[in-house]
Amino acid sequence: MSEPQSPPPLDPEMFDPVEPADRDRLARHLAAVVGDAHVLTDPALRASYETDFTGRHTGRSRLVVRPADTAQVARTLRLCRDAGAPIVPQGGNTGLVGGGVPTGAGTEVVLSLRRLNALGPVDADARRVTVGAGAALAELQRHVRPHGWDFGVDLASRDSATLGGMIATNAGGERVVRHGTTRANVAGIEAVLVDGSVLDRLAGLPKDNTGYDLTGLLVGSEGTLAVITRARLRLVPELPERVTALLALDSLAAAVGVLTALRRLESLELAEFFTADGLALVLKHARLPGPFRTAYPAYLLVECAARHDPAEELAVLLEEAAEVRDVAVGRQASDRRRLAAYRERHTESVNAEGIPLKLDVTVPLADLPRFVADLPGLLAGRARPYVFGHLAEGNVHVNLLDVAPDDEEPVTEAVLRRVAEAGGSISAEHGIGRAKSRYLHLTRSATDIAVMRSVKAAFDPDRLLNPHALLPLPWEEAGR
Ligand code: MLT
Ligand code: ZN
Repeated sequence: MSEPQSPPPLDPEMFDPVEPADRDRLARHLAAVVGDAHVLTDPALRASYETDFTGRHTGRSRLVVRPADTAQVARTLRLCRDAGAPIVPQGGNTGLVGGGVPTGAGTEVVLSLRRLNALGPVDADARRVTVGAGAALAELQRHVRPHGWDFGVDLASRDSATLGGMIATNAGGERVVRHGTTRANVAGIEAVLVDGSVLDRLAGLPKDNTGYDLTGLLVGSEGTLAVITRARLRLVPELPERVTALLALDSLAAAVGVLTALRRLESLELAEFFTADGLALVLKHARLPGPFRTAYPAYLLVECAARHDPAEELAVLLEEAAEVRDVAVGRQASDRRRLAAYRERHTESVNAEGIPLKLDVTVPLADLPRFVADLPGLLAGRARPYVFGHLAEGNVHVNLLDVAPDDEEPVTEAVLRRVAEAGGSISAEHGIGRAKSRYLHLTRSATDIAVMRSVKAAFDPDRLLNPHALLPLPWEEAGR
């Protein structure tokens, strides 16, 4: 197993070590706002907030604070700002790029939003629901589905991923082919600025052209501009008729060919790919029986959903698709879940093998099979790759195991450069966090980065909000 990645170098001038007396003073002031039980200074209690879900990104916080509502978040931010304490906002801690955990300096306050988990009434007239940032996606699904509505974004970590975290990272997930990313499904936002003032764009009116789209700007800002406390979400109709099919194929090129045909179906909701290696890992760690008698080089998991049974139109299309070597179909919820598990359990199965180096990228679809075929050459034996992802968007999750610490940077650079050369994106849906900030220049121009820096300075002039995430630190850029 590889060791967790060491935190990036810290600028001693920016992050003075915290004197115990200062730490205690801030903790006391925060406790007066949120209550003693919600300021965690004991290392054992802080631990689960300081390491990410894969174990790769880990650090040490000054303390963890858990406010209960927007007013408490506002007072928390004001106190931290006055104390000069950097703040790392955190939701369900399911992020994969180190954007929600502290560095090793012990100076940052982890601001957990999990207690802001209220779910408002389903507003069927407006097709909206207002939610607290700390509510988990699965809680929202259980809340709205009985009313005949659904949220357009879904992902494998639905039980833990919070809506605030999904908004802050513009999470994509499995249904982007039909409903777009989180940004397309957020109508309005309430957020607290670093000085404690509250930015209220919660109304989320369908038509409202009064100035800059600050809601859109905060989606995907990774906690670097403001702390999202509530959101007004768009709802989509819950579709009662669903069919899932797992297709066995000879290659990823065949998967792209089948996808082109599938796109004609309005009911297409999900098109996820994985390969023989990944499936073998899932069968081993999740102890599942194989879906087919024999293994195939590539697999495509497809789901169609509609008001009327979409099984027939899917079957007709698949019969015409010469590339499909075998098919397993699920109609009942339990069968559909069983087929989906072959894809959804990739993440935990990779984690069970070791701490992965995770590179979430987009490549133009036409280049995807070649990109995956090029990986062994790019890696030159320095990693064991597993690839899977969301085919319709060309979103490849490159998971690398057994990477020696000295190889992490060259391997990351080789893969991300290849992505940039192909006209792709170095972050498809996980964000930049602190894992990729030093590579931002690969797919963002100097002008682009300068504009982003100006936006950051306008919101957070002292760089207190998630200071290590997204934008490279000045000395990281200087060292390039
Ligand atoms: C997924 O699609 O399963 C998630 O993005 C998580 C991952 O990449 O491991
Ligand atoms: Zn994904």
